[in-house]
Amino acid sequence: MKYCLGIEGTAHTIGAGIVSFEGNVIANEKEVYTSETGMIPTAVAEHHKKYVDEVIEQALKTAKLELQDISLISYSAGPGIAPCLHVASNKAQELGKENNIPVVGINHCVAHLTIGQLSTKMKDPVFLYVAGANTQVICLAGKFRIFGETLDIGLGNALDKFGREKGLGFPAGPKIEQLAKKGKWVDLPYSVKGMDVSFSGIITKASRMQEKIEDVCYSLQETCFAMLTEVAERALAHAERDELCLIGGVGANKRLAAMLNIMCKERGAKFAAVPLDLAGDQGAMIAWQGILEKDKTSEGIRPYERTDDVDVTW
Ligand code: ATP
Ligand code: FE2
Repeated sequence: MKYCLGIEGTAHTIGAGIVSFEGNVIANEKEVYTSETGMIPTAVAEHHKKYVDEVIEQALKTAKLELQDISLISYSAGPGIAPCLHVASNKAQELGKENNIPVVGINHCVAHLTIGQLSTKMKDPVFLYVAGANTQVICLAGKFRIFGETLDIGLGNALDKFGREKGLGFPAGPKIEQLAKKGKWVDLPYSVKGMDVSFSGIITKASRMQEKIEDVCYSLQETCFAMLTEVAERALAHAERDELCLIGGVGANKRLAAMLNIMCKERGAKFAAVPLDLAGDQGAMIAWQGILEKDKTSEGIRPYERTDDVDVTW
């Protein structure tokens, strides 16, 4: 049996995952940087340096494997915060050299997509990728094509920004989801432009609102999720697909999944969200993408690489 060790380190999470070449996730360990205020790049990189060996050791232990049993090492080469990317990249190169294992640097966003497809067993879905930095509607047509995306910030970062203003801590997404359960509707602007969305105006407005926090959280979710549901539906129609795959950290939100599910049901499409443990950043998705790109080798980081820059030749 062949295994890939994947090391994730684009942003808040340092993770190590082990996946078999057949696509079974054997181990997935991570340490997430949290703070009251947000992410300071050098502080996050220090956090990753502190925990990188630990998460790798723990992943090997969980998988009951030694480094010698690993056939391939992959790491998140980008996009992401450069000092964090270096931690994952350097560790992958170091282990690869010491143990004579090939090393491949892969795209973090593409890894979110392909772990979604693997875990939901979808054939050719429209992907709704809703994470921290990225919010995109994507479909594979020769390469990953972006049908629509945020014109300013990703929804995860938008929610975190709102959380920072309101003192909800970081990351704020799960807190907002809990508070929203007890909220009722107050008016917020709705911002869809063609296939694109924008969140920063809504966040500015919501941050200044003096209404009950539960009501603001509820309305923020309803507005932003309705915008995503609208563009996802249009993408299904344009691309003539009948599967929608929700991926990325915000994909953990039950209300977002419920709204997309209703839309898909109404148009006879299949809907699935990536399982919780594979929704946010982790090493297993890096390992699986490494396996898909096992014939390449690379070194260094690519902090600005976009999903549609990646050659899909696997
Ligand atoms: P990207 O993949 O775009 O580079 P990222 O790697 O930072 O961004 P993820 O780890 O996929 O993103 O997701 C993190 C985001 O998910 C955070 O902004 C967090 O607030 C948000 N999030 C996590 N759980 C929930 C939830 N239940 N509801 C809403 N948002 C959530
Ligand atoms: Fe991510």
